[in-house]
Amino acid sequence: MARVGIYGATGYTGIELINVLSRHPGVEIGFATARSAAGQLLSEVFPIISDLRLAAVDEVDPATVDLVFTCLPHNTPELIPIVQRALAAGAKVVDFSDTFRISDPQVYAARRGKDIRRQSCLPRRCTGCQSYTVSGFGRRGWLPIPVVTR
Ligand SMILES: NC(=O)c1ccc[n+]([C@@H]2O[C@H](COP(=O)([O-])OP(=O)(O)OC[C@H]3O[C@@H](n4cnc5c(N)ncnc54)[C@H](OP(=O)(O)O)[C@@H]3O)[C@@H](O)[C@H]2O)c1
Repeated sequence: MARVGIYGATGYTGIELINVLSRHPGVEIGFATARSAAGQLLSEVFPIISDLRLAAVDEVDPATVDLVFTCLPHNTPELIPIVQRALAAGAKVVDFSDTFRISDPQVYAARRGKDIRRQSCLPRRCTGCQSYTVSGFGRRGWLPIPVVTR
């Protein structure tokens, strides 16, 4: 059984992820975070049957899970310490935002403007691709996934 944590559980991608993972026999959701709804039950926020309690980011411990999903808006500064803390705790990271998908700082700046990333984070990230083929995830432990899949 894989234990997972979800950061940004009350957004579009977070709630879809919970819908999928809740039905997965090999996955247990260890924690789910929210910002404005922290402290509430997920079922109080969405019409969904769930006893999952939403926590603030600072209240959860990534060392208690095998893998975290980060479902925060792209370029959110809080994403970086969340990823760093999860990797340091030994959890793998799947990032839904496009913050770390683009390696080249110039391309990033042209597309996204201000670059919030710290270069020290980049070497551990591996790249998802549109054919679902991923290399190095087990070794590097950090995967920004693409928006467009086929
Ligand atoms: N990979 C894909 O296929 C795909 C598809 C769609 C979107 N995306 C990307 O996935 C990411 C999430 O998108 P979304 O539409 O699900 O976002 P969203 O609906 O805006 O939800 C973001 C979630 O993160 C929380 N949050 C926002 N700012 C935060 C902060 N500073 N600290 C802690 N929590 C914070 C929000 O809580 P509050 O509601 O309380 O603010 C909410 O739970 C985006 O980067 C988007 O570009 C990816």
